[in-house]
Amino acid sequence: MARHNTSIAPPLKWAVGKRWLIPQLEAIWSKHKNALLLELFCGGLSVSLGLQPQTALLNDVNSSLINFYEQIKKGLYFDIPAR
Ligand SMILES: C[S@@+](CC[C@H](N)C(=O)[O-])C[C@H]1O[C@@H](n2cnc3c(N)ncnc32)[C@H](O)[C@@H]1O
Repeated sequence: MARHNTSIAPPLKWAVGKRWLIPQLEAIWSKHKNALLLELFCGGLSVSLGLQPQTALLNDVNSSLINFYEQIKKGLYFDIPAR
C-alpha cells in the first residue's frame, strides 16, 4: 500500500503512537476525506498529521501537550541540530 506523500512526522515521539497504522487508515479515510476527523486522545498527533484532514477536532487531557501545539500554531520554531 502506498504511503501518503504529504504525511508529516509528529514533532514529538509519543508512547504508543499510531503512525504505523496510517497506511491502513488511509484506505478507510480516502472514502471520507471531506469529513471532520476526530482525534480524541491525540497524543503525538500521528493520525491527523498522517492523514492530513481538511478539518480536525483534536483533544488530549495533557494540558502541557496542548499548550505545545498551541505554541506551534502561533509560530513556535525550533531547530534541533543533528549530532
Ligand atoms: C497512547 S497516547 C495517544 C497516541 C496517539 N494516538 C498517537 O498516535 O500519537 C494516549 C493519549 O491519551 C491521553 N489521554 C488519556 N486519558 C485521557 C482523557 N480522559 N481525555 C483525553 N485524553 C486522554 C493521554 O494524555 C495521551 O496523550
